[in-house]
Amino acid sequence: MLNKNKFRSAVITGVGMYVPEKVLDNKQLERMVDTNDEWIRTRTGIKERRILEEGGTSVLATKAVEDLLANTNTNPLNIDVIIVATVTPDMFFPSTAALVQDNIGAKNAWGYDLSAACSGFLFALQAGASLVETGQYKKVVVVGADKMSSIVDYTDRNTCILFGDGASAVLLEPSEDFSLGVQDSILRMDGSGRDALFMKAGGSLHPSSHETINNKEHFVYQDGKTVYKVAVKGMADVSAEIMEKSGLKGEDIAYLVPHQANLRIIDATAKRMGIEPEKVTINIEKYGNTTAATIPLCLTEYYRDGKFKKGDNLILSAFGGGYTWGAIHLVWSID
Ligand code: UT7
Repeated sequence: MLNKNKFRSAVITGVGMYVPEKVLDNKQLERMVDTNDEWIRTRTGIKERRILEEGGTSVLATKAVEDLLANTNTNPLNIDVIIVATVTPDMFFPSTAALVQDNIGAKNAWGYDLSAACSGFLFALQAGASLVETGQYKKVVVVGADKMSSIVDYTDRNTCILFGDGASAVLLEPSEDFSLGVQDSILRMDGSGRDALFMKAGGSLHPSSHETINNKEHFVYQDGKTVYKVAVKGMADVSAEIMEKSGLKGEDIAYLVPHQANLRIIDATAKRMGIEPEKVTINIEKYGNTTAATIPLCLTEYYRDGKFKKGDNLILSAFGGGYTWGAIHLVWSID
């Protein structure tokens, strides 16, 4: 579909990923909190997750971008922009993007961190695509990276079973073939969801203090039941909406690439879209919820497994803290 508002189409020309080696499986969690492997698998689909022992999110992001650069033979000096979607930046400032820029020697790049929790990669992909579509930027790296283990309370069974660490990155470049790349997006947020999923302290409202630490306010809090209900509806609605907007039916879609928070939310979304289970990318069993990293990790693994063909219609879809949610229609552009 030719979009006359774009001077170029923004297409993905490469992918990269990194997950730490250390595995935290359900059996190990059984020894840490009152839970069991069966409950975790049947309620969430998760079997294990990865944990970064040394360093912050910039370590994960840098390694994912290094993988991307090696696989695309990209000279870091040619990178124009680096956008890192994360809710676990190494620190408030400098940005994680700046740390990645320095680590990889991308001396000509600018960039920024983007905070949109589990929808972070979708928001960053749309932002990066817009920069390419103007014709002004030629190589934009979009990263989803989170070290969730740094903000998870490993005595809270409601959250510690869900999250893991990981990062993945894509390279966006311009193309004159408007039938490829980012076609359209529907992105939303609703800050009235602020009380259902958040990390209370450490920001300007509740700066770190003895009290915030004693009250365990530097950890993720989630009202799982409430988020579950709005996530099922939000992800399914927005996915159905983008299909309609793009004129796609279930059979036109090669893969649904959903945020990996809960297998039951993913199944409900696919069902609503009329997509067969084998056309849904799933890796939640291996990594759990890596927040901003889940969608690009799926893109990278499924591409490397030879599952995507150039021209495939993909629907990327997410729901997360904020609330934030959305869907992107992406046509795969790598042979
Ligand atoms: O990625 C960002 C967006 N986040 C999401 O999309 C997550 C949305 N929420 C969920 O995925 C689910 O709500 C959870 C997986 C977090 C929880 O599943 P649930 O089916 O909603 O369980 P629940 O919270 O309703 O708890 C059911 C029972 C409770 O016991 P009672 O009250 O029925 O006796 C919990 O206390 O399961 C208990 N429970 C556990 N049992 C064993 C809660 N956590 C655990 C646990 N192990 N880890």
